[in-house]
Order: sequence, then C-alpha cells, then structure tokens
Amino acid sequence: MAFSKSYREDFLLDFKNFTFLNHGSYGAIPKVVMDRKKELLDEAERFPDDHFRNKAQEYYKEACVIAAEFVHAKVENVVLVKNTTQGVNAVLNCFPKTKKILINSHTYNAMRNMSDLHRTRWGCEIAEVKINMPIVSEDEIVKAFTDVMDENKDIDLAIIDHISSASALVFPIKRLIYECKKRNIICIIDGAHAPGQIDLHLDELGADFYVGNLHKWAYTPRGAAILWSDPKYHAILEPLTTSHLYKGTLHEKFFQQGTDDYSNFFTIPVSLKYHSDLSFEKLHAHADALFEYGRKRLCKEAGCSMYPVPASMEAPFMKIVKLPRTDRYPELNGIAITDNIIKQLLAQYNLVVAVTTTNGDMWMRISANCYTTKADLDRLVEVVKDATPKLF
Ligand SMILES: Cc1ncc(COP(=O)(O)O)c(C=O)c1O
Repeated sequence: MAFSKSYREDFLLDFKNFTFLNHGSYGAIPKVVMDRKKELLDEAERFPDDHFRNKAQEYYKEACVIAAEFVHAKVENVVLVKNTTQGVNAVLNCFPKTKKILINSHTYNAMRNMSDLHRTRWGCEIAEVKINMPIVSEDEIVKAFTDVMDENKDIDLAIIDHISSASALVFPIKRLIYECKKRNIICIIDGAHAPGQIDLHLDELGADFYVGNLHKWAYTPRGAAILWSDPKYHAILEPLTTSHLYKGTLHEKFFQQGTDDYSNFFTIPVSLKYHSDLSFEKLHAHADALFEYGRKRLCKEAGCSMYPVPASMEAPFMKIVKLPRTDRYPELNGIAITDNIIKQLLAQYNLVVAVTTTNGDMWMRISANCYTTKADLDRLVEVVKDATPKLF
C-alpha cells in the first residue's frame, strides 16, 4: 500500500470495537480538526462578544478563501452552507418560475423531495431519466439524458449528481452541463460526495451552480459545504435564512444566518491542510489497492459480483459490489429492508457499511480512506460469508 504510516491514530473513530467502511455517509474527522473546533468553541464561550463581533467575519473570509482555492474557483463565487441539502434548497428557491425539473433514477432522495415540494408549491413538472445497470459507457448516460431533454423541451432546470449516492457513480458532468447549456437548462450539480474525492475546477466547469460537502471527504466537521455559483446569479441567490446583511454581497448575505455555532466553517483551513498533507495521489493509490484486493476476495469467496461500470464512472473512494442474491427477499422494495440489514451488520458483527438497492439488486457500498486497512476488507469478507443467507 502507498502509505508508509498508519493513519488510524489520527482519527477519533473507535477502531478497537468496529470496522468502519462507510466514510461516505457521515465522514469522520481527524483529531487535529476536532482540536481546532474545540478551541473555537472555547473561544466563543470565553468571550462571545469578541468572537462574534470581531473574529467571526475574519474566520469566515479565511475559510472561504481556502475553500475556493481547494475547488479552483475565485473566492467571490464560493460561499459556505451547512450541507448540500441546504445549498440545493437555497438554489431552487431562486427559481419559482421553473417549468420542468430534470432528475434521474439515481438522484438522492432529498433532492427528489425538494423537486416534489417545488412542484407542489410552484406548479412545475418533473421529468426523470432512467439509468439502468449495467452501464457500458458514458455515451449511454449522455444519450439517456439528451433523449429525455429532447422529449421534454420545456425542461428548464436540471439537478445532476456528480457522484451518486447509492450507486457511487461519477456522472460525466462536463458533457451533461454542455447538453444543458445548449438547451438553456439551468444546471445544478449535486456534488455532495465530490470535494476531497475528485479534483474540482469549478470556475472552468461551466455549471450554473455546484454544491458539495466538505464534511464527507475533506475532513471538516459535519455541517460544512461549499456553494459555488456563476456570477450572473449572485444578485438573486439568497441563503435559506435572511439576516442582517440582506442586500449585501453574496459573501455578506451568506456569512450571517442568525446566531449559531459556525465552528464547522471556521475549521476549514485545518481540515483542508490535513487533506493536502495526505497527498491525493497516495490516497488514490491506497484506496485502489484496497478495493482491488477486497473486491477480488468478495467475488471469489463470498458470492458477490460486480457489474461492469466504465472506469471513468467509478468513484475513487467508494465502490459498489453486488451482494449474493438469495430468496430471502423476493421483492427488494423500500429502504426498510436495507436499513434493517445495516443495523444488523452493526449489531451482530460490529461492521459499518452501506447497503442499498438499485435495479432490483442489493449492493454494498464500500468506502476506503487513509485509515482503512487490508484487515478491514478481510473482516468484510468474513462477515459477508457468515451473513449470507442469514441477512441478505
Ligand atoms: C448524492 C448526494 N446528494 C446529497 C446528499 C446530502 O448530503 P447532506 O446530508 O450532507 O446534505 C448526499 C448524502 O449522502 C448524497 O449522497
């Protein structure tokens, strides 16, 4: 493996008692980040007036500058929100006159619900691109999108995943943005999983809006995300909470959204330093080697299988593997089944991994990070062997 040191001692995760293979859901922070967060909380408690009146805006500015550098964007185009869900909600609120929203069958549930609320509230329609597995090529995805766009000429806004949640697919967003632009469709990229996992160049990408969590793969505490927007929208983009600096610059509007704990934003410099000190290339090499090893064993020894997905569409630090299909669940409908399996894996095996259903099959989404070891993958193989057909 590419790393010469173990990163386990850097983290607060309870490695003694659990096997963690689900970084993708909630992230995890290194101790240095937690230390900085505690420092900020202490400072705010020691002297709240000084923290909020004199220091907070400087911390916010510094965090925005560093976050913008991280995603290769001008700082004017980047503000901070608590999470991708908030960011996309804020963007959608700017477009009450939308006629038809485009989503797809891998769209994250919260985005699907937001589109539905928009429909109920403002009377728009929703069109959906069906993406079936296996996926042979990026061309196939682009065609599935453009077919629906061409059949629904009134689509004027699209929410497109950069990396989908359950299926961990990297969508060919550059090409999809191009197709949206050709048709005057406003393009919002749901990049919840991308910052820290994929090198981003947001000023060059061409999207109208890009929202991405820092708390998944960029080591910030939960409650930190970037919202990038094309300058032409800065005047109409509003945060979900209107506050004192309403009608200010984009940064001013988003800086203050009521009295709150903003320490998650203010730790961004320390979090992104941790990320850059790790080295993206080494992290990739480490994850690649682990996935190759783990997936081979899962397929050979534990009855799992892999659908072919083009290499360019596989997320670097999250991979899916199809679980063995037994007759335990003739119908895979609803998330109650997978939720229960996730709980049972935790309760019976102390194993944390995501289990999802797509296209009538059950999948495991495995995450790898700098703290993941070969022994974690060995444990996963043993658990899958033992849990089939008890759980799957
Ligand atoms: C594709 C996708 N979009 C949006 C979200 C929402 O992220 P958050 O809960 O941080 O708002 C997630 C969360 O996992 C996701 O996977």
